Amino acid sequence: MKVEKIPATEGTFNLQDYEQAYANFDWADVEKAFSWYETGKVNMAYEAIDRHLSTPRKDKVALKYSDATRDESYTFADLSRLSNKFGNVLKSLDINKGDRVFVFMPRSPELYVSVLGTLKVGAIVGPLFEAFMEGAVRDRLEDSEAVAIVTTPALLPRVPVAELPALKHVILVGAEGELENGQVDFQKAMDAASDELEITWVDREDGMILHYTSGSTGKPKGVLHVHNAMVQHYQTGKWVLDLQEDDIYWCTADPGWVTGTSYGIFAPWLNGATSVIRGGRFKPEDWYKTLQDNKVTVWYSAPTSFRMLMGAGDEFVKQFDLSSLRHVLSVGEPLNPEVVYWGLKAFNQRIHDNWWMTETGGQLISNYKSMAIKPGSMGKPFPGIHAAIIDDQGNELPPNRMGNLAIQVGWPSMMRQIWKNPAKYEEYFRFKGWYVSGDSAYKDEEGYFWFQGRVDDVINTAGERVGPFEVESKLVEHPAVAEAGVIGKPDPVRGEIIKAFIALRAGYEPSEELMEEIRRFVKEGLAAHAAPREIEFRDKLPKTRSGKIMRRVLKAWELGLPTGDLSTMED
Ligand code: WTA
Repeated sequence: MKVEKIPATEGTFNLQDYEQAYANFDWADVEKAFSWYETGKVNMAYEAIDRHLSTPRKDKVALKYSDATRDESYTFADLSRLSNKFGNVLKSLDINKGDRVFVFMPRSPELYVSVLGTLKVGAIVGPLFEAFMEGAVRDRLEDSEAVAIVTTPALLPRVPVAELPALKHVILVGAEGELENGQVDFQKAMDAASDELEITWVDREDGMILHYTSGSTGKPKGVLHVHNAMVQHYQTGKWVLDLQEDDIYWCTADPGWVTGTSYGIFAPWLNGATSVIRGGRFKPEDWYKTLQDNKVTVWYSAPTSFRMLMGAGDEFVKQFDLSSLRHVLSVGEPLNPEVVYWGLKAFNQRIHDNWWMTETGGQLISNYKSMAIKPGSMGKPFPGIHAAIIDDQGNELPPNRMGNLAIQVGWPSMMRQIWKNPAKYEEYFRFKGWYVSGDSAYKDEEGYFWFQGRVDDVINTAGERVGPFEVESKLVEHPAVAEAGVIGKPDPVRGEIIKAFIALRAGYEPSEELMEEIRRFVKEGLAAHAAPREIEFRDKLPKTRSGKIMRRVLKAWELGLPTGDLSTMED
């Protein structure tokens, strides 16, 4: 396929000669940027925040937070002091290295302080989306045996404390009135805590953050990242985000998603950048205002958001002054060429797509500022990353052949564990020396990678990874549902939407009301984004003789494609 390239611009990562830059790169050189290179004392929170206190960045704004009711700025010194306090709060509760502490609340300065303070005592952070309902919260706290959760009174009813024996402390942000046993008033505890803390030094390979994500089978799995990931966060922040001293950076992702931590917390602060955080829900007007009023220079978002902004119209965007922007990036789902062209027209910026996963911890394949873009391509591997297309036997394929996107093992931010599930972890590494992503792709003769799809049934709706199994399990808990099969259906804005095929139990009839009720059941039991937007009732679902729902057949029905080999199907 011949694609028109969009010419390179200027960037810190000088790619006049990509091959050369790639050949000369060594992760070991990056390590020199960290204080532990000299001292041997490692802690992500120290490197991201406290290290800057001996430099002019001390009084620079690190976090600029706003929502409908708040507008606050915190310097690196402020964040250092507040996270010290929170670290002391945790210590007073006897929370220590290796313990799991979850954060379950809307974006707020308190959320970021909690994350940093947790890291400072060497504990492992487990971030949750505020949209999670009780079932989703329980699964994650149970699996990880979390000892504490930081949350708000509004979200507290979704934390089934009585069913979680390991959970000893509930720290409430915005607590009011009498507290129960085991509950801690965040603000009171912070006020009482000292702002001096002895940071807990850890090993580079010690656990730092636990992100739960979905696969095609089983419950969400806990992807564990270690402090060493900072090496990758720092360098990709420099060369992919192109962060420089005067940048005002906005990553729109919530910390419940890995983009909201690797690139919403670690990469910007490791690089000493000012980070804008906007609370509240997506609204085009709010977003454009956030860019305009904060004079955002570097903006990292996702295709669904860009498509929604595009949908808000070209006249609308003209009402805002977005001239501060100098670098725009996208991740999480395929970025349509159409959106790239719209970006050029709407705010005169190239949108730089990049590819990575919760499991990879950091960006692996990217479009760089100083590289020509081929709209629709995810770009080229970051230096130090060997990406390849391999066949189902683990052999590397030549250019233009579609296959499994795989990465040679050994990059700094690679996950180190699937929590308590070594078998699941090994599945990623079934070919010796390779991490197999589960995505299919091809590489063109110039080394650009092109995403083709998932090889499994994992759904990507508006950038959120949803496992069909989780949704199916929830659906069959509903009294009317006998069987359920869930697929991703292509959608022009969200990439995919969740569609459920349902066979009802005897005595139930399909109806609009029932559809609505089932949808609400999933929404309230799991999360809004996991609820099927479309439901189709069928008398029977296609199954294998062993009783497995054949999602592949459902998908073929949906797309009007041939159903392929049905030899394993029952009757
Ligand atoms: C998909 C996201 C196309 C892919 C940081 C991957 C993408 C999954 C892109 C990971 C992209 C991510 N183009 N697809 N640039 N980036 N994906 O773990 O299927 O939520 O495997 O992490 O999103 O999703 P996750």
